Parts: sequence; C-alpha cells; structure tokens
Amino acid sequence: MTTLDLSRADTPTSRPAATAATAGYATPEASAVLDVLLSRQSHWPLTEPGPANAELDLIVDTALRAPDHGNLRPWRFVTIRGEARGALGDLLVDLACARAPGEPRSAHAHRRQKAFAAPLVIALGAALSVHPKVPEVEQLLAAGAAAMNMLNAIHALGYGGFWATGPDSYEARLHDALGFAPNERLLGFLFVGTPKNPAQPPVRPARCAHVREWLPPQSA
Ligand SMILES: Cc1cc2nc3c(=O)[nH]c(=O)nc-3n(C[C@H](O)[C@H](O)[C@H](O)COP(=O)(O)O)c2cc1C
Repeated sequence: MTTLDLSRADTPTSRPAATAATAGYATPEASAVLDVLLSRQSHWPLTEPGPANAELDLIVDTALRAPDHGNLRPWRFVTIRGEARGALGDLLVDLACARAPGEPRSAHAHRRQKAFAAPLVIALGAALSVHPKVPEVEQLLAAGAAAMNMLNAIHALGYGGFWATGPDSYEARLHDALGFAPNERLLGFLFVGTPKNPAQPPVRPARCAHVREWLPPQSA
C-alpha cells in the first residue's frame, strides 16, 4: 500500500512559505519574480489609470508564453475600453432582463456598472480545435494558463486584476456580440486597473493540504 509522509525534511512541502526574505536559495532576480508571484491577489473594484498601450502589449505577450500542447495557439482576447464599456453595460442589462423578464428594466440597471468596474476589461476566449492528440480540456487549460500569466503581469506592473465569469459569460448572445466565432469559448473577463482601496493580503491555504509526495508501494 502507498504511504504518504508529508513531514519529510527534504520535501518541498516541509519548507516554510517562500518570500523574498526567506528564499535564500534564490538569486535576487529570482526572488523578485517569486515575490511578484507570491504577492499577487485579486482586486475589486478598480479605477483609473489602467495600463497604457505598451503595458497592455506586455500583458498580452505574457499570455502568449503560456504552455500550449500542439502549438494550437487557442488564445483569443477582446479588449474593451473607454466608451465601448457603455455598450457592454447595455448588453449586460439586456441579458439580465432576458433572464428575468418579469422584472422591470430598472431592476437590472446596476448591472451596467459592471462594465465600468475597471478602465480595461479583457474578454478571455479560447479557440477550440478538433485535434487527435489535444483534447478540448487541454486547450482550455492553455487558455487558463494564459489568463494566469496576464494576472501576474498585471500585478507586476503595479495594477490590479480580477477574473470574473458570472452568468453573463455563458450567454450565447454576449459571446456573439463580442465577436467570438462558433468554435471559440468565452471564459470570462479580466478587469484591469488601479485598486480603489488598499487590500489586506488574503489568507492563503496551507501548502500541506495541497501537495503530497507519491511513494511507490514497498515490495514485501
Ligand atoms: C475562471 C474563474 C472565474 C471566476 N469568476 C468569478 C466571479 O464571477 N465572481 C467572483 O467573485 N470571483 C470569481 N473568480 C474568483 C476571483 O477571480 C478571485 O480569484 C477570488 O476572488 C480570490 O481572490 P485571489 O485571486 O486574490 O485569491 C473567478 C476565478 C476564476 C479562476
């Protein structure tokens, strides 16, 4: 029978949570990168300023470095900024009205604000291909990895980000209105901007609850 020993001193699970201060095994450059990864958190709500065009290019470029089985390049991003957010907001109200047709339109007016919750909204898409070796789930994972790279880049540049889906993301009408093709899946939205309020670092889960070392069965 396989036994698990999470207390072994030489396993990564026994190390204290790494920070730049404790990561004595890392070069200063690596510590700086790890610090960015370890300090990322989601922020909501967000305000101006959002990333400048050159910063947005960098953010997108990090997405395009995500792992991608078969080089299928499934990443599709649609940026929504400025006045276009008003049209997105109207669409969100329309969708909410369609979901609850018995309620007056005014009951859904607040949903328009979602489009203005950040100066930049990035609709995340994945173009799904039929491939003999790369199932759909792997293509979705590649898109998720791209989104994660973007969140880290957003944080590294000093902005805040938030990945949200909600019922809207699964609406065919929104998918079509944003110009996604039939084989492209809408995976939610990254809201990007400057955090409105200073945030407390969130409590993160204990590493040992998420990692275990597999040991092969002992032969008798
Ligand atoms: C695919 C995906 C969809 C999400 N959708 C929502 C959402 O619709 N609403 C929400 O409050 N959080 C949503 N979240 C969670 C937030 O983005 C965020 O991760 C969470 O608030 C925890 O904050 P943290 O990133 O600082 O740990 C989603 C996360 C993922 C990965």
